[in-house]
Amino acid sequence: MKLLVIGSGGREHALAWALLKSPKASHVYVAPGNGGTAIMDRVTNVPITDPSALLAFAQETGIELTVVGPEAPLAAGVVDLFQAAGLKIFGPTQRAAQLESSKDYAKAFMQRHGIPTAAYQTFTDPAAAHEYLDSQGAPIVIKADGLAAGKGVVVATTLEQAHDAVDSMLGDGSLGAAGARVVIEACLTGEEASFIVMADGQHIVPLASSQDHKRLADGDTGPNTGGMGAYSPAPVVSPVIHDRIMAEVIEPTINAMREEGIPFTGFLYAGVMIGPGDDATRSIGVLEFNCRMGDPETQPILMRLKSDLLTLIEAAVATKLDTQTLDWDPATALCVVMASHGYPAKARVGDTITGHLDSNDQVVVFHAGTLLNSDGQLISNGGRVLGVTAIAGDVAQARTLAYDAVTKIDFDGAQYRTDIAWRALNK
Ligand code: AMP
Ligand code: GLY
Repeated sequence: MKLLVIGSGGREHALAWALLKSPKASHVYVAPGNGGTAIMDRVTNVPITDPSALLAFAQETGIELTVVGPEAPLAAGVVDLFQAAGLKIFGPTQRAAQLESSKDYAKAFMQRHGIPTAAYQTFTDPAAAHEYLDSQGAPIVIKADGLAAGKGVVVATTLEQAHDAVDSMLGDGSLGAAGARVVIEACLTGEEASFIVMADGQHIVPLASSQDHKRLADGDTGPNTGGMGAYSPAPVVSPVIHDRIMAEVIEPTINAMREEGIPFTGFLYAGVMIGPGDDATRSIGVLEFNCRMGDPETQPILMRLKSDLLTLIEAAVATKLDTQTLDWDPATALCVVMASHGYPAKARVGDTITGHLDSNDQVVVFHAGTLLNSDGQLISNGGRVLGVTAIAGDVAQARTLAYDAVTKIDFDGAQYRTDIAWRALNK
């Protein structure tokens, strides 16, 4: 089968890598892809991002199945477009993708259906938002309603920060339309986990649990990023917590979307905050829904997946996920993100990447913001540059392997955390 993966990050490199393991996959096109997918066997990058141009490419090339990586094309309706043309594509429709593309939609949906999440209110009027902040006090969380590439959330520890966040989102329009409405919600405490499932509108298959590291620097300090590292499984997601997230969050969400006439097909990612206490009674709250896999969570998750990803996605597109069970490597996989100088505020591009980037059975260097220039040289081309991912018997071994590989790679200004999986190691 000829496949198309839409996107250019580490997640998409990992999707292409995992899909190609299927005996049914003959070739994977990645649009637009990166320097890592550029050098893979049986992979071709295609420099297209516009949804109509992607459709035309898929039709001309005889693409049999398309998998969408990031949220932007989903929110732009690429799935609707492909489906209308009779092409198979895995991802939610534009309406279903609102679970991610509008925080207000997601919050109202959760409230309507009793899905646990922080109390909130939505504002377009700055004065009303400021008044609400004063009535609630800090800490408090301010979120731009629309997609803001990880820049739309401020967890304010003081009221001053909270008022500033409202001013910058509603006031100066720095986030454009995404910031024209804000959600203000209560601050939850506990341990975060990423809980990702595949859904076909009716049936659900949960993927392995994982945990991301959103802050730039060690000890979870510094600014929020897209994710500086991840690992799977996440010990906080015990079997009891797994069952509770399925019963309290995922099943009600998929069922309610279907009942509302907006069946959700695709990867659904719930970012959950798990409060302190006993597993049977500790609180679970949804921080966010994403309508796609996580990046960098995908990299360790797919390194552990022993089942055929292509078969799974084909089953999902045929509304037959109930016929599938997943087989996981019990080992731990861990991804360390190497980011560029200045990330996340102002990522520098154009640094030459050298060193040992080859993969083996235990270590895979997934590319994100890289490109192969006309001289065949690998150059940094974005904020998150590489996701160095290792798999081993336990989290300590996986971490050692991943960091050994990181030290063999070099580019000017590289930033990475040295404490990925610290929570799991402390347990
Ligand atoms: P989001 O894009 O909504 O996941 O927010 C990004 C990050 O902000 C999350 O991963 C959390 O670390 C943090 N966050 C979001 N909402 C809350 C909340 N209600 N309470 C505490 N932290 C939050
Ligand atoms: N790593 C967080 C995300 O993909 O949204």
